[in-house]
Amino acid sequence: MFRRKGSLIFCGAILFIAWNALLVLFLLGRGPSGQSGEGSRGVVERPTDDLVGEVIRIADAFEMELEKQREILIQVLKHRPLWEQKRGPTVKAPSQPVIPILVIACNRVTIRRCLDKLLEHRPSTELHPIVVSQDCGHAETAEVIRSYGDKITHLKQPDLSDIAVQPEHKKFQGYYKISRHYHWALSQVFQNISYSSVVIVEDDLEVAPDFFEYFRSLLPLLKSDPNLWCVSAWNDNGRDGFVDPGKAELLYRTDFFPGLGWMILRELWEELEPKWPSAFWDDWMRHPEQRRNRACIRPEISRTLTFGRQGVSLGQFYDKYLRYIKLNTEFVPFTKLDLSYLGEQVYREHFEKEVYGAPVVSYEDVKQGQLTGSGPFRLQYSSKDSFKVLAKNLGIMDDLKSGVPRTGYRGVVSFFSRGRRIYLAPPPGWTQYDPTWS
Ligand code: UD1
Ligand code: MN
Repeated sequence: MFRRKGSLIFCGAILFIAWNALLVLFLLGRGPSGQSGEGSRGVVERPTDDLVGEVIRIADAFEMELEKQREILIQVLKHRPLWEQKRGPTVKAPSQPVIPILVIACNRVTIRRCLDKLLEHRPSTELHPIVVSQDCGHAETAEVIRSYGDKITHLKQPDLSDIAVQPEHKKFQGYYKISRHYHWALSQVFQNISYSSVVIVEDDLEVAPDFFEYFRSLLPLLKSDPNLWCVSAWNDNGRDGFVDPGKAELLYRTDFFPGLGWMILRELWEELEPKWPSAFWDDWMRHPEQRRNRACIRPEISRTLTFGRQGVSLGQFYDKYLRYIKLNTEFVPFTKLDLSYLGEQVYREHFEKEVYGAPVVSYEDVKQGQLTGSGPFRLQYSSKDSFKVLAKNLGIMDDLKSGVPRTGYRGVVSFFSRGRRIYLAPPPGWTQYDPTWS
């Protein structure tokens, strides 16, 4: 139906242009003929009365004609959406989903590093609109964001008031503001702009070359697997020496919500929005009531790096761990890879076989590099304390949130040590996390 209407309009437009061309030629042809050849010899004549009358008539006719044509053109333009609907799908395959990037900003002018890398690696403006949501009303940062012009959309969180908190939480004001901002910004993306998915990036993150490719490739899995609730670009144990440098394409399921460059679907936001917390939103997401046994996908090598030493949670954690997390440099064509191994059933079966099929070794063996064979190896923990001691001594993250260790999947933390794969694992037969482990 659109096709027929569209071509009719097109023919009309062509006829109309041709008619105009003829008319203009006709009028131009008449005009100079009255003045014979004098003009061409350069003699400027005052026009006779007769000639003036003729010119006015021509001008009137011309004006009327132009008015008529203006009317027709307006009619034609009214049907513009019809041609565009017709053209649209042939230019862009309808199967290409739009995944916007939401950048959470406040008062860091260094957001430039974040935005420059996003723009450098963005494969398509249409498929990945960048929305920067700014809190804090910091003018200098606003100016930096504004300088990107229409390459990005700049939103400003309107409520900059202090949040009333209990006296002991005064020092956590920042966490309250972050939570309020997230609530507002995600509502903009899903309710006002109506996107169906989003990747959230904080202003102190730098993204890897295959950041977009990574998220694009995992959108279908996120949509189809009800036991997945996010895709994250971050490996909490992704320091140099703790990841396999030859396995940039390797991905995992994890029960720990990593944040730091993460994708969710609109449905999840609709579920979380009504109960969104007033502070500490990331740890809140890690509570069993929110997570509901769902996992995230995370990479072996991080696709984000954080450069925000001076942050709301201050710098100790940054200097101890975060600054050493390695950013992937090699582009992995994820959308062309078979990612079916990440599907829940397949993944879990393979994972259990791989982990519990690996020989048990002692901490001393690992630490002193006395492992024979190429691995993998299993290191067992049986209590919260033994987990913490082992983790600390091995140099991996030793904290647990709602009982889940960072990067953990079914209690297992997978990492690299002296060139070998190690699984720090609970005894076989694991069934659930103990939220009192913290
Ligand atoms: C840490 C987490 C961060 C999480 C935050 C809240 C890490 C490395 N970082 O923040 O992912 O969101 O706790 O639990 O684990 N911001 C505002 N308004 C403010 C202050 C900050 O919107 O009033 C924004 C910043 O622009 C930034 C984000 O909130 O995008 C986090 O702030 P940051 O200062 O980087 O705090 P972290 O300590 O990294
Ligand atoms: Mn930060």
